[in-house]
Amino acid sequence: MGAGMAITGCGSAAPTSVLTNHHLTQMVETSDDWIYTRTGMKNRHIASPMESLSQLSATAAKNAIAMAGISAANIDLIILATSTPDDLFGSACKIQGLIGATNAVAFDLTAACSGFLFALITASQFIRTGAYRNVLVVGADLLSRWVDWTDRASCVLFGDGAGAVVCQRTKNGDRLLSSGMYSDGSDNNSLNLHYQNDDRPLVEDITVQQGTYQPITMNGKEVYRFAVAKVPEAIEKAMFHANLKADDIDWLLLHQANQRIMDAVAKRLNIPQSKILSNIAEYGNTSAASIPLALDAAVRAGKVKPGDTVATSGFGAGLSWGSAIFKWG
Ligand code: ACO
Repeated sequence: MGAGMAITGCGSAAPTSVLTNHHLTQMVETSDDWIYTRTGMKNRHIASPMESLSQLSATAAKNAIAMAGISAANIDLIILATSTPDDLFGSACKIQGLIGATNAVAFDLTAACSGFLFALITASQFIRTGAYRNVLVVGADLLSRWVDWTDRASCVLFGDGAGAVVCQRTKNGDRLLSSGMYSDGSDNNSLNLHYQNDDRPLVEDITVQQGTYQPITMNGKEVYRFAVAKVPEAIEKAMFHANLKADDIDWLLLHQANQRIMDAVAKRLNIPQSKILSNIAEYGNTSAASIPLALDAAVRAGKVKPGDTVATSGFGAGLSWGSAIFKWG
């Protein structure tokens, strides 16, 4: 039997500034009642100009490494899931430097709100093949920097944050019980952070495009429909492959996009609402950070205990989605 993996530490970090529903009513035509009843959100944390994705990620990473009981020098690989790096060339190496993971190779992975799940599954491949022993997976996004703050249909949803887990090789059984990743590019237009062309003629027949990125555009209804259809299906597949039934799941840990999506998925899976891990009221949708942020809060609160079975799913732009079932600790 090959090597298995266990998730042995988690950590998180969020900016200190809190943008409330009340604040949003001063910016766009909306209300606390509309936002809360449609999404379950009350607050979101917003990065100040002084804060960076790399710094938040480094804090989350240090907490995760401390919980795992290893040192940064023991980390072999760092995968940073983000769509909003500080640097378009990637921010994983910056994090490596900030935490002193001198023996690690580091790279970014982009899959929007599925990013953390995709990075976790990627980490498992390196661990199971025996290539690496200790992998740090970070999910972090500062979507506040790319939101159209005049678009009430999307600006109320997003917040900033970072979360991290340490995945370790284990000889006594694989604690990642099953996983799957999926994409459907035919619905790519539902959620985008597009490049914006700005033509700049250089010489004669040669023109370059030196633009920037447009704010997020989203068809909320489409994304909602996609999520409530695909997420239960992905978790059912993962349960089937792990030979588990709904009753065997201790915690449902979904990407924190909308409380109504989480409730609908739980209902479809016959998992009681009391098993949903949610911190959406405080953080909103933090994209690639949302799953490790919610996991970290639940672990530190003593809710998720060693040996608990957690079913998780990430979904979002791409469109992309994924699921995994693991035993914590
Ligand atoms: N305040 C008040 N009214 C609003 C607001 C707001 N903030 N936003 C939209 N409305 C209005 C609309 O204009 C519309 O008015 P109309 O009927 O007069 O046209 C009405 O409210 C209903 O709008 P809907 O879009 O139908 O509202 P819905 O119930 O679908 O909820 C929401 C919208 C919350 C965005 C929901 O569709 C949703 O959560 N979708 C999923 C979005 C998501 O999760 N995106 C992120 C994915 S993760 C990633 O990859 C980044």
